Amino acid sequence: MTRASSLRELFRSYFKTDAQIFRAPGRTNLIGEHTDYNDGFVMPAAIGAYCWIAGSARDDRRLVLRSENFDEAVESDLASPSLRPTKSWSDYPIGVAVMLERAGLKIRGANLLIQGEIPIGAGLSSSAAIEVATAYALLSLSGHDVISVDRAKIARICQQAENEFAGMRCGIMDQFVSLNGQEGHALLLDCRSLEFEPVPIPKNVELVICNTMVKHSLASGEYNRRRADCEKAVRLLSSALPGIRALRDVSLEQLARHKSLLPEVIYRRALHVISENARVIEAADSLKRGDIATFGRLMGESHDSLRDLYEVSCAELDLMVELANKQKGTLGARMTGGGFGGCTINLVDSRFTEEFRKNIARAYEYAAKLTPEIYVWTPAGLAGPVDAEPVSG
Ligand code: GLA
Repeated sequence: MTRASSLRELFRSYFKTDAQIFRAPGRTNLIGEHTDYNDGFVMPAAIGAYCWIAGSARDDRRLVLRSENFDEAVESDLASPSLRPTKSWSDYPIGVAVMLERAGLKIRGANLLIQGEIPIGAGLSSSAAIEVATAYALLSLSGHDVISVDRAKIARICQQAENEFAGMRCGIMDQFVSLNGQEGHALLLDCRSLEFEPVPIPKNVELVICNTMVKHSLASGEYNRRRADCEKAVRLLSSALPGIRALRDVSLEQLARHKSLLPEVIYRRALHVISENARVIEAADSLKRGDIATFGRLMGESHDSLRDLYEVSCAELDLMVELANKQKGTLGARMTGGGFGGCTINLVDSRFTEEFRKNIARAYEYAAKLTPEIYVWTPAGLAGPVDAEPVSG
């Protein structure tokens, strides 16, 4: 039985009615970390692991949410002016409903059954996937056209749900790639203009994701603190560089010239962001040329910079990268996502994938005393309705 049909059956057992099915993928990021909220460049790929939602419209304005992952049901009233976050999984779908309405997109009440297959808290954007799948479900069940929907607008609405309702000041990368992913491709995305270009991943290269099994808690402060550091850098630099709006607007040469304006920590944060932006552009060029060696070197530099300058890595991530670099067939390795635990992304020559997988799992388990999960996902397609018509029976 497919995931869609088993979810539809489960939905029927809870809600006694037919469902439409929607899904949205998680993501990995090949390079360009902590650059999105600096109006910079990123290069993520959607992964073949999804958040699935089965849903039906209601005649009232209630949102009845059931999470299979948390085995929990939550009800709220869209008509209530006092919808508040509760610091739980339901903040994401409820936040999306609130922000859709705030954007002028009228939403009906709905029953939603949510089943995520993306590991939670692993830096693979399970939260963006639940937001995007919810946006599709609520819009479609409320009669909006979801086929020709403005995906950039939906990405912003989902980001807003996370920023303003769930309290995490994330950038646009995760929601955007979940909405715009392309099979077999990474996206080179300009987070200021939202222009993007799909870049093919060579056929003989596999994306292998290694989960350290250490959970980060981005929302609990460090992530928002990094973002505030970047904003401070822009404020301080703008006394010498009027007109800059984000670190995206500052060159390495300008940063070096005005270094004395910045406290040491803020300088290091800015140095990471500005050099990471340059690495993304170089990495995209090298991938287009089929120069995987350069791409791999840039991934390594990105990891070092995140560890030493931006300080968002951790011992387990550093260990996983170090072990990857010792395996046969490794073309590049680095932490992926916000950091403080979670996963690494590895480009592996496909002839060695199985060997890589087995050996790194064994070596990590031995050194960290934790059993890692290793995923091999080919870049997946975009989010959307799985089939538009409810199937009865
Ligand atoms: C998290 C955020 C993204 C991005 C990354 C770091 O995944 O949700 O917006 O900032 O961290 O690159």
